[in-house]
Amino acid sequence: MNRESYNLIAAQWAAARAAFCGRERDYLEAVLATAPAGSTILDLGCGTGRPMAEHIVAQGRRVLGVDQSEALLGIARGNLPTERWVLSTMQAFEPDRSFQGALLWDSLFHLPRDEHEPILRKVVDALPPGARLMLTVGGSAHPAFTDTMFGQTFSYDSNTPDESRQILARLGCHIVIGEFMNLPDGGRDKGRYAIVAEKT
Ligand SMILES: C[S@@+](CC[C@H](N)C(=O)[O-])C[C@H]1O[C@@H](n2cnc3c(N)ncnc32)[C@H](O)[C@@H]1O
Repeated sequence: MNRESYNLIAAQWAAARAAFCGRERDYLEAVLATAPAGSTILDLGCGTGRPMAEHIVAQGRRVLGVDQSEALLGIARGNLPTERWVLSTMQAFEPDRSFQGALLWDSLFHLPRDEHEPILRKVVDALPPGARLMLTVGGSAHPAFTDTMFGQTFSYDSNTPDESRQILARLGCHIVIGEFMNLPDGGRDKGRYAIVAEKT
């Protein structure tokens, strides 16, 4: 569902998602703070590469972007042709050990929640100690749901912020930043929680 939906809205998504919102830039800077110049950041569910990959490259690091949407990945390739872009699901992608940071930004919550810990485990396993990852999770306890964007349907599921922090602790990470980007409104908006974690 999500793959076709993102392919269908690629142009609208690219137009809407060009700049950082909230403290996104601060979170990304926190990841880059432990990634040496020239090192590579893994971006799982990278979308068009804007603004995240674009900023990573502007700060002197490289990007390996992974996304299941051919249309969004094509835009990313056009935006940043020097970087590596892989058409794959997050579930199927097997990272090697060449990364010094990772993003799962606004992407993990499109997968069933029972898939989140295994994916986080393979990402954390691939990172060296001291490297950081950033991710968003839903901001409240609720069953999986669907919502619409630009007329298309998308599925969402998430562990709570506390459960997500516990998962990261089990995986040997400590939390550097953990804060709400927006609070749940008790209705359509389930809230969104940002995490920057460091592999201990
Ligand atoms: C809300 S967008 C966020 C894109 C980008 N991370 C950003 O911050 O703008 C979600 C992205 O996750 C990708 N995605 C969703 N499910 C995926 C999956 N199972 N495997 C790989 N990519 C996926 C979508 O194609 C889309 O590019």
